[in-house]
Amino acid sequence: MKKVDITEQLEYIEKVKEINDGKNLKYYILTMGCQLNENDSEKICGMLEEMNYSKTEEMKEAGLIIFNTCCVRENAEERLFGKLGEVKKQREERGAIIAIGGCMMQEDHIVEKIKQSYQYDVIFGTHTLHKFPEDLYNAIINEKRITDIIDIEGEIIEGLPIKRDNNIKASVTIMNGCNNFCSYCIVPYVRGRERSRQAEDILDEVRQLAKQGYKEITLLGQNVNSYMVEENKKGNNSPINTFAKLLTEINQISGIEKIRFISPHPKDFTDDVIEAIRDCEKVSKLVHLPLQSGSTNVLKVMNRKYTKEQYLNLVEKMKQQIPNVTFSTDIIVGFPGETEEDFEDTLDVVRKVGFEQIFMFIYSRRVGTPGDKMENQIPEEIKHQRFDRLKKLYEDSVSENNKKYIGRTEEILVEGYSKNNENLLTGRTDSNKVVVFEGKKDLIGKMVNIKIISEHMWYLKGEICK
Ligand code: 5AD
Ligand code: SF4
Repeated sequence: MKKVDITEQLEYIEKVKEINDGKNLKYYILTMGCQLNENDSEKICGMLEEMNYSKTEEMKEAGLIIFNTCCVRENAEERLFGKLGEVKKQREERGAIIAIGGCMMQEDHIVEKIKQSYQYDVIFGTHTLHKFPEDLYNAIINEKRITDIIDIEGEIIEGLPIKRDNNIKASVTIMNGCNNFCSYCIVPYVRGRERSRQAEDILDEVRQLAKQGYKEITLLGQNVNSYMVEENKKGNNSPINTFAKLLTEINQISGIEKIRFISPHPKDFTDDVIEAIRDCEKVSKLVHLPLQSGSTNVLKVMNRKYTKEQYLNLVEKMKQQIPNVTFSTDIIVGFPGETEEDFEDTLDVVRKVGFEQIFMFIYSRRVGTPGDKMENQIPEEIKHQRFDRLKKLYEDSVSENNKKYIGRTEEILVEGYSKNNENLLTGRTDSNKVVVFEGKKDLIGKMVNIKIISEHMWYLKGEICK
């Protein structure tokens, strides 16, 4: 896979830095959507800090306002248009520069709408993120609006500066794009085809993170367990050419205590990945396994390429082979044609698997996807009723499931102080449950054994084992 030369962009960073000299400029960034977008934003922040911008949480004091957008569901779209209304004043009254990037910008109808009805200075897409320094420079120098969107993909960007949000946990993107074309999903259209970073580059990044004191790594990709599949077809010659091998290598990096990953696809969950999860002591035993629907009929129309039974068999296999395995999932309710019986199948899978966490979504029509063209759309009212029923089943199961933790000792990476109670420390179990406990500041960043003493729906309370 071709790597993009970013030398020119590093030069643009220097040029903007010169323009900004002595101005003490601030930037505000709003990130919508998934962790991949958050990781992209960390790269935008990295470039901006090199240009001498400093971050602010107050849009009103920023000389540069950036929106990194998501288009997976309609509500993120609505949020952007609301925000663009708000920033009009900032641009007109204070001359703030407005930059809009990310997935939504890969959709022609959205870019058209912004061009016609909203104010902005730079529009950039998912394949031009690394060109942000050049686009920003041109917008500042020429005082004209820049739109920099391309459809070609298949390139890998290495070496961009990065400013991470957290100093204990870090995300590392291992692949980008998706080849699956699930019929509800816009991602393959806006993120392009699957392409994987070379293992050596990923391992270098993780080693660097370990040196800087990071303890937990989350590997990111739209479909992590097809890591390197496309590159292998094209004659890749790195020996680390599967996701299982990558996990095994990262597991050996000293300093890293916990490895998580999102998201795998059930259809690509090969035995070597199951074995790697089982055998790599640092790899979390929480498997995020997107179900989407429990009905074989709906799964077929969704183009998911597995049946209800295959999904349940996979879960069963992992339960047998991986001690202490737990599961989380994504579920969409109200996909076109979903009958009451289909929905019951989803509830049935939820009961059978016993998920730790469920991310629930109401089906949202996305322009350009096959799902949007289907005639048998489900009325909003039914979608909402089903969503509420699923939510109730899930919430009832949470407190029941939480009971299993009471009395157990969990090894936890201490992340910092609890947001809700600054006297308590917080961390997560291997299964990603929030735990709060009393302890001293110097434990932050360390692994500690915590005995769980009570459960409170969305968090557990514990005490340090002496
Ligand atoms: N409507 C609702 N949910 C969606 N997702 C993806 N596309 C849609 C859509 N059109 C959900 C899927 C996916 C998660 C990231 O977002 O459950 O796994
Ligand atoms: Fe979307 Fe399906 Fe690809 Fe996930 S696997 S990004 S749901 S098309």
